[in-house]
Amino acid sequence: MQSLQQQIKVYEEEIQAFQPQNAQELEAYRIKFLGTKGIVKQILGEMKNVPGDQKKEAGQLLNAFKQLAEEKWESNKHLQEGSNKKESNIDLSLPGSQVQMGTRHPLRMVENKMVGIFEKLGFSVASGPEIEDDWHNFGSMNLPEHHPARDMQDTFYVSQNPDWLLRTHSSSIQARVMENEQPPIRVVCPGRVYRNETISARAHCFFHQMEGLYIDKNVSFADLKQTLYYFVTEMFGANTKVRFRPSYFPFTEPSAEMDISCTVCGGDGCSLCKHTGWVEILGCGMVHPNVLRNFNIDPEVYTGFAFGMGVERITQLKYQVNDLRLYSQNDIRFLRQFESI
Ligand code: DAH
Repeated sequence: MQSLQQQIKVYEEEIQAFQPQNAQELEAYRIKFLGTKGIVKQILGEMKNVPGDQKKEAGQLLNAFKQLAEEKWESNKHLQEGSNKKESNIDLSLPGSQVQMGTRHPLRMVENKMVGIFEKLGFSVASGPEIEDDWHNFGSMNLPEHHPARDMQDTFYVSQNPDWLLRTHSSSIQARVMENEQPPIRVVCPGRVYRNETISARAHCFFHQMEGLYIDKNVSFADLKQTLYYFVTEMFGANTKVRFRPSYFPFTEPSAEMDISCTVCGGDGCSLCKHTGWVEILGCGMVHPNVLRNFNIDPEVYTGFAFGMGVERITQLKYQVNDLRLYSQNDIRFLRQFESI
């Protein structure tokens, strides 16, 4: 019993003096005193050698020792918790990983701007299917059977008899709108169109157009000119000049093409405008009476104007992109250049 008392005393002193500095030291302590083969268990085992009349006293001694050993461990547990966090490999001081933001595609940005300008004039936005039938793409637009635009070389046919095709121009959306609405009609129709062209810097088998259509009583060519003039000054600045040249489209009569003063040289002459000072941006005209009739709109009561322009063309003039292929190659070095616009 005496030797047990002395043993415990020595260990108690050791425990009292013990000041663990880290989780490893604490764990070594735990194993030494509180582990399954630890000192507390060992001394407990020695209880059987204590004579019966001293067992009670020895039991109290042992309990107090066990409590002391456990308290020391409990009061230093925070070391262990701290070290657990470290072991989970999370370094809270590391800088966060950056989220890569995407950028809007230049064509979409320009299209949004174009739509926004016409919305200010009271136009709403309409859309239509990219796979069209012959009637909406050609027939209803007053393109006669033998018109060269229907040629297999220009048009991607999906099927024949019945003819399904990839729309060749956004004018097919006009047809969809007139089919479903009665005047007054005032819409812009942006969308992707397809033509069977060999891909090069200046041509592509798909590109984007925006159609405009305005039908009401007393709509005149002067309204068309003023609307387009407003668009140009909003898009390219107040100093931009416009001019109209007579032209031909089956769906408009009279028809015109509109040029603007070159956005690169301001009209002095450069390679973009082929030294003429002018660049063509769109086709337009007064909606042909046959087109109105095709949708049961009386040309004696209503008149209207229409226009169609290429989004790639407008983007080229705004940002001097000189190769159409760049728009669909998805080269991040190209796309990133429009980040801050
Ligand atoms: N659809 C024509 C094209 O693809 C563009 C066009 C010209 C549309 C005159 C019109 C228009 O609405 O009036 O080249």
